[in-house]
Formats: sequence, C-alpha cells, structure tokens
Amino acid sequence: MGRKYLALAGALCIVAVTAGGCKSSEEETVKNIKIGVTLYDQYDTFLSEMMTEFTEYAADKEEESKVTINLEILDASKSQLTQNEQVKSLIEKGCNVVCVNLVDRTEPTTITDLAENNNVPIIFFNRELVAEDLERWKDLYYVGADASESGTLEGELAADAFKENAAMDKNSDGICQYVVLEGEAGHQDSIVRTEYSVNTMVEKGVETEKLGYAIANWNRAQAQTKTAAMLTQFNGKIELIIANNDDMALGAIDALKASQIPKEEWPGVVGIDGTDAGLDAVRNEEMLGTVYNDKEGQAQEMLNLAFAIATNGTKENIPLIDGKYVRTPYHKVTQDNIEDYENKQGAVD
Ligand code: GAL
Repeated sequence: MGRKYLALAGALCIVAVTAGGCKSSEEETVKNIKIGVTLYDQYDTFLSEMMTEFTEYAADKEEESKVTINLEILDASKSQLTQNEQVKSLIEKGCNVVCVNLVDRTEPTTITDLAENNNVPIIFFNRELVAEDLERWKDLYYVGADASESGTLEGELAADAFKENAAMDKNSDGICQYVVLEGEAGHQDSIVRTEYSVNTMVEKGVETEKLGYAIANWNRAQAQTKTAAMLTQFNGKIELIIANNDDMALGAIDALKASQIPKEEWPGVVGIDGTDAGLDAVRNEEMLGTVYNDKEGQAQEMLNLAFAIATNGTKENIPLIDGKYVRTPYHKVTQDNIEDYENKQGAVD
C-alpha cells in the first residue's frame, strides 16, 4: 500500500471515527512496533519469570494481531545511571513505549523528563514510584500489585498456621516468636509487607514477639547467611520466619537444612511470590504457604497496555485505575490449592 493511499485511508477513517464508526486509523495501519524494557536486575527470580511470560505473550499477540512486535529487554544491573542511559537509547532506537522496572523508585525524574521531551510513554512496573511522580506527565503508567494485600495475606497464612498447629508454639507461651527477612530497604514491598503481615497476625488474634530481622535484598544466598546467624543468636526460640519473598524464604530453608535442627522442629516459614521453587517448597511442606504474585497477569496486562499505546489502539479492555494504574490481585497458596498454581493457570482462587 503506497504512502498516499495510506494517508487517504487515514483521513477517511478519522471522518468515520467522528461519526462513531471505525477503529482508530493508525491502529489499522501500524504493522510494526518496538517495545523496550529495562529491568533493575535480570537475576531477580520473580522478574525473570515474569519476563518469560511477557515474551511469550508478545509472541501470542504478534500471531493474533499480525503486528510485528520487536522486543528489546535490557538489564540495568542495579544502576540507576545505567538505566537512565538505557531508556535514552531505547527512545533513540525508536521504541514506541518503554517499560521500566526502576532501580531506584525515588529517582524517576530523568526518565520521566526523557519520556515527555520525546513524547514516548513509559510503563513503570513492579517497583512503584510515588503517586506524585506518576502524575508528572499524562503518559506515565504503572503495572504491579498492591503491597498491603500481599502482607495481609501472608499474615493470614501465618496466623492460621500458628492457631491450627500447637507444635509451632515451641515454648508453649501462647506467643508467636518471629523474625523477618526483609527485601531491599526502601522498596514498597519490603516496607509494607513487613508491616501488614505482622499487623494482620495480631488482628487475627495471635500475640507476637519480634526477636529480630535481617535485610536480605530479595536474595536467597543472603537470606541463608542471615538466617543461619539468627538461628544461632536466638538458639531454638524462633517459631516463625516471615520472608518478604519466596527467594528469601528458600534461603531460610537452606539455612535450616544446613543446621542440626530436625525438620519437625523447624520454625514455620512463609513467603510471597509463588515462584517455581517457592511452589515446590510449599508442595514439599518446607514452607507453610506463599502468596501468589500474579506474574502471568502482570506480564499480560503490561503487554496489552504497551501494545495499545504503540498501536494507538483502544485501552478499553485494560483495567486501568485512575487512567494510570493496573494492579493484579494476590492469592494465598497452601497445600490445599497448590495444583491451581503449579498448573500455571495464573491466579485462580
Ligand atoms: C517484588 C517481588 C520480589 C522482587 C521484587 C523486585 O514484588 O516479590 O521477589 O522480585 O519485587 O522489585
């Protein structure tokens, strides 16, 4: 189709749109789009699993829409400066939209300025910037989940287990002695999950006593080292380990396995994410339960939003809150419903 003909078709379509008729002209003519992605750390388990889903959804969408989708996924290796440069280069390479998993969620300004100056929309995801920063320009979006919900559900899992299983109260004092493994300092999911998990236990009638905490940056190896130290420090007193994510819960389990403590005397361990290894640990009864962070849902919503933006298509089917946010719900996973999640059907209650 020649350029002139396209322009004419576009003009005709715009007339029809005003009359309430056909789809956006550009949506019909776009044949090729480019979506850039930059990750705070490609070795983060949850995000790498989410990106696998994202890439698969992009392939499905390409097939279904007949629009060629060029994806470029970059790793910022935990450097905000590197990420700023990556966004600049993705924009220069002609990305129609860039998905940004901010390294430092308090430092989005360079990226939002680049976006506005070049008129390239940004979808932030997983690491939530403060609401005022998302308001800085009309074409800034956020895809993620509500941190407080994950903390609440983790607290419910822990409270139910403590109430139902008398053996968890090792010293039989009726109080749950716990430690927390926290993600990165300053990350919304570390701060909010820690607060809500414990508050929920208390609201559900469990008396709690915090023995200690350690920051393990979402990381399994760090969590193993820090848990080993706490097991020694609190010598047999820990009844519950609340981890802000599954990788850290798995690190705690690694430390328990390496200790002399028999499995029946392990403290309860709860996590969040429902990563493949996290689900295995629930299945093997090493973890009491986890909270499913819907990576399939987040990947799909982000792809749909990016596609709609890049093709100038409709956002009608995207569950945008306040025109800016997409949030997927979390779900509790225990022995009772683990099959639903192992089957990778996405979040099913
Ligand atoms: C959280 C997730 C963690 C980690 C973190 C990175 O939502 O639960 O496992 O991936 O995001 O920002």
